[in-house]
Amino acid sequence: MSLIPGIPRPRRLRRNATLRRMTRETQLRVDDLVQPLFVVEGSDRAQAIGSLPGQFRRNIDDLCREGERLFALGIPAVALFPSLPPERKDAEGSEALRKETLVLRAVRALKGAVPELQVMTDIALDPYTTHGHDGVLTAAGDDVDNDRTVEILRRMACLHAEAGTDMVAPSDMMDGRVGAIREALDENSFSGTAILAYSAKFDSAFYGPFREAVGSAQAAGTPLLGKAGYQLNPANAREAERELELDEAEGADMLMVKPAGPYLDIVRLARERSLLPVAAYQVSGEYAQIHAAAEKGWLDLVRCRDESLLAIRRAGAELILTYFAGDWARDQKRL
Ligand code: PBG
Repeated sequence: MSLIPGIPRPRRLRRNATLRRMTRETQLRVDDLVQPLFVVEGSDRAQAIGSLPGQFRRNIDDLCREGERLFALGIPAVALFPSLPPERKDAEGSEALRKETLVLRAVRALKGAVPELQVMTDIALDPYTTHGHDGVLTAAGDDVDNDRTVEILRRMACLHAEAGTDMVAPSDMMDGRVGAIREALDENSFSGTAILAYSAKFDSAFYGPFREAVGSAQAAGTPLLGKAGYQLNPANAREAERELELDEAEGADMLMVKPAGPYLDIVRLARERSLLPVAAYQVSGEYAQIHAAAEKGWLDLVRCRDESLLAIRRAGAELILTYFAGDWARDQKRL
């Protein structure tokens, strides 16, 4: 006996696995995934990162092997982050402009080893500054010096392009940096180098494990890092939209929202307001929390991983930067 004749019964389409397969709306593909990788100097074995289980700081040789492995799994791109010893850092981040700095050697080696693998590199000063900020500071020392930072980032982007980076990714949130970097690249015959703009990057507490990985968490003797003066307020969606619009107008090739999971509304917004491809960065803390709960036996690692990635894709991201990329691709191959 039916309760009410003719009531809508959406469950009809969920009755068996084949029907569910037919009515599935969103598909995650290996082509959508970008693996972030950390690189260190030296010949030591890969160093595990405590708060990012399964992620390592690798030397250049190891990085190239990992790049080969990922590309063979179908991962199209990696994002590189250098982890430098304190003696390489100063208040100006001057290491960033050295032609032989670690990340540039890593890009050259990786493009030599796996030419088709697309390499993205961050354009920001935080791996290079003693204070860990993404830019240089004002004379008073109480703020980042926006315009002086942008000048440095322009030169940095050209060095990265020259080394063979396919996509530079300004992650600093300074005003006007996308336009300035585009102009510098074009003037120096790097018009083919794309810009993936960290457009809506929020002042998030979910970056914690990353800052441990690159050693930008807190320089000795300085107060805990605050980046609220340049990264977006997590309360602000309209302001995020404005940043997305500005970066598009300044010449970004792709827009990124970061973090991903807690900001799916912003991913959707970017998707609806722009015709550019939208990327989302599932950041270190999002990865760490799933791992931590799984270690305790409270969550199923693989199911939560897959659901978290699917949700980001469903919200409208066509590209996902995620520490799960390699593992996800490996598991697909096994199926
Ligand atoms: C630096 C940068 C950060 C991340 C990527 N690039 C950290 C920060 O802004 O302090 C975070 C990535 C992650 O947490 O996985 N500009």
